[in-house]
Amino acid sequence: MTVDSMATLVNLDDFEAAARALLPAASFDFIAGGAEDELSIRWNREAYQRRAIRYRILIDVTKRDMSVVVAGSRLPHPIILAPTAYHLLADPEGEAATARGAAAAGAVMTVSTNATLPMEDVAAASPGAELWFQLYAHRDRATTERLLLRACAAGFRAIVVTGDLPVLGRRERDIRNAFGLPSGMALANLDDRPGRADQMPFTWAEVPWVKALTGRPVIIKGLVHPGDVARAIEAGADGIWVSNHGGRQIDTAIAPLDALEAIVAATAGAVPIIVDGGIRRGSDILKALALGADAVAIGRPQLWGLAVGGSAGVQRVVELLRDELSNVMALAGCRSLADISRDLVT
Ligand code: FNR
Repeated sequence: MTVDSMATLVNLDDFEAAARALLPAASFDFIAGGAEDELSIRWNREAYQRRAIRYRILIDVTKRDMSVVVAGSRLPHPIILAPTAYHLLADPEGEAATARGAAAAGAVMTVSTNATLPMEDVAAASPGAELWFQLYAHRDRATTERLLLRACAAGFRAIVVTGDLPVLGRRERDIRNAFGLPSGMALANLDDRPGRADQMPFTWAEVPWVKALTGRPVIIKGLVHPGDVARAIEAGADGIWVSNHGGRQIDTAIAPLDALEAIVAATAGAVPIIVDGGIRRGSDILKALALGADAVAIGRPQLWGLAVGGSAGVQRVVELLRDELSNVMALAGCRSLADISRDLVT
């Protein structure tokens, strides 16, 4: 779609519908789908829809500041692109287009191990972009080590260790569609390709090694249990990313928003907290921040934007959310993210 015709898409749901119309069905299903009955996908959304905003009035909100610092990265707003695989499915320029769109919108992009372009190409395509690298550890420690050293050399600023994929969840849409990467696309970061689900026995014990090897902030992604917070902090984590992988791993996994408050309590401000899963509105972001998150991330919406308009589509998706957040902050009486206090949400 052209930038002009994208103007008819006024929210993220519109982007989803447009992406559905444009993408091959099996590609759309790969993006949209989740594990088994896809209940967690629904719950992720419903967790936001169940919460209400108890706003304040008659406050001077003419100036609003949405900036935040997360794991050493200073961000103009709290919207991060979650790691997602296979961007070439959505756009011929793949992850390079996503990175340019993210940079134009001031969003961090977290580049997946399972990207369809080499991480160096993504970094080179988007000078000035704030990029984090997401690690899937591999059976062969040397492969894992190579991935991490390449990420450092290419200028990635933080390492996101995804911990919720010891094996792949059962994604029945993909099974029915016999989904596989189309010819001409590959896991471009992996030369020996042990396969996505074929992880090395990677545990908390390996996290200090990642940190020492890279010297970068390490963020642990996929936590929903408050008992894992102490382990993360003991292992030296610089951030906690609350996520159920967009409902793609365990079906009936707790919605991240429902898991958030216990994790915030267990963290007690020691490290920043990111949350993802079902964020589709600026008001969702306000709710996540009110319940204690420092920033949020979006998975599927970035791919809808990419499918619909390439880098301009990614940029537009982030800007829509950012503008909705700015709007709801004003309406709720908030001048900065620090003003988004717990009492504003039921
Ligand atoms: C993902 N996700 C993911 N996570 C990760 O750590 N590494 C990855 O390679 C991928 N790949 C991936 C592909 C696709 C198509 C989707 C939809 C998701 C999970 C992702 O980072 C994030 O946790 C969820 O997508 C957030 O939920 P929403 O925003 O999609 O509802």
